[in-house]
Amino acid sequence: MGGRVEGKIACITGATGGIGRAAALTLAREGALVVATDLAADRGAELVAEIEAAGGKARFLAHDVTDEDAWAGVIADIDREHGRLDVLVNNAGIGLSAPVTEMSLSDWRRQTAVNLDGTFLGVKHALPLMRRGGGGSIVNVSSIAGLKASPNVSGYCATKAAVRYFTKSVALECAALKDGVRVNSLHPGIVATAIWDSLIGTRPDGSNERPRGATLAAFTERAVPFGRPGLPEEVAAGVLWLASDESSYVSGTELVIDGARSIA
Ligand SMILES: NC(=O)c1ccc[n+]([C@@H]2O[C@H](COP(=O)([O-])OP(=O)(O)OC[C@H]3O[C@@H](n4cnc5c(N)ncnc54)[C@H](O)[C@@H]3O)[C@@H](O)[C@H]2O)c1
Repeated sequence: MGGRVEGKIACITGATGGIGRAAALTLAREGALVVATDLAADRGAELVAEIEAAGGKARFLAHDVTDEDAWAGVIADIDREHGRLDVLVNNAGIGLSAPVTEMSLSDWRRQTAVNLDGTFLGVKHALPLMRRGGGGSIVNVSSIAGLKASPNVSGYCATKAAVRYFTKSVALECAALKDGVRVNSLHPGIVATAIWDSLIGTRPDGSNERPRGATLAAFTERAVPFGRPGLPEEVAAGVLWLASDESSYVSGTELVIDGARSIA
């Protein structure tokens, strides 16, 4: 076990997915008590067992980030059990791919509800508890899609660009209050997780028939200067730095972890 976030209480949404799971394992390994939340309770129990087997501390709460009452319940639970919240990682997200003319309004709204509304609700409900404890770190997981546009993912790009500027605005609100809360956005590139099941290989008509593994490897070889997808652990390393006191003078910034894709 390390100790870079020793004793901190850290809440991570979407914590049973690829990046969220890696972030939960990493923060727990470095000494945080992780409150992992996600939709699927069975995978949550597995995650908690894995963290505990490695000597870490974790709890799982079933939680839909689009539900404001659920957010109030999660924060009340953390307050009751731990009395404070030091780190919030707004990581839950979905990626829906379609040419804009094929995108249904219900899919547009569902993606916005998870990626943007979920982040807003997390910040809104976590801030009072963080402030009561004298400060904290919020990490909003955006994407390089919030920095650089791509075709057929206009809705996804819109939500991730919005998270980027929402983050900066809240960072300034917190700084003005001198509340000790830092708020940053994290921009992963192409990372090998299940989210690519719905994003990769989409044809102009919106269909998606190519096998995921082979397609992602071929796609990244061509599209990423490093020639490979990122690993969830490589993104979790950035979450750890932003969550830790090592980044104590950093707020409103954009941490890009993308094998140089966004500058190519
Ligand atoms: N994988 C990539 O290439 C990549 C790149 C840039 C950004 N991101 C972002 O990273 C974050 C994590 O994505 P991932 O790649 O690990 O994908 P993933 O599909 O493996 O994990 C996403 C998790 O979010 C959860 N989730 C979905 N809707 C939810 C809801 N309404 N409430 C609570 N949880 C919900 C899912 O159950 C899942 O566990 C997302 O915000 C994604 O947009 C991923």
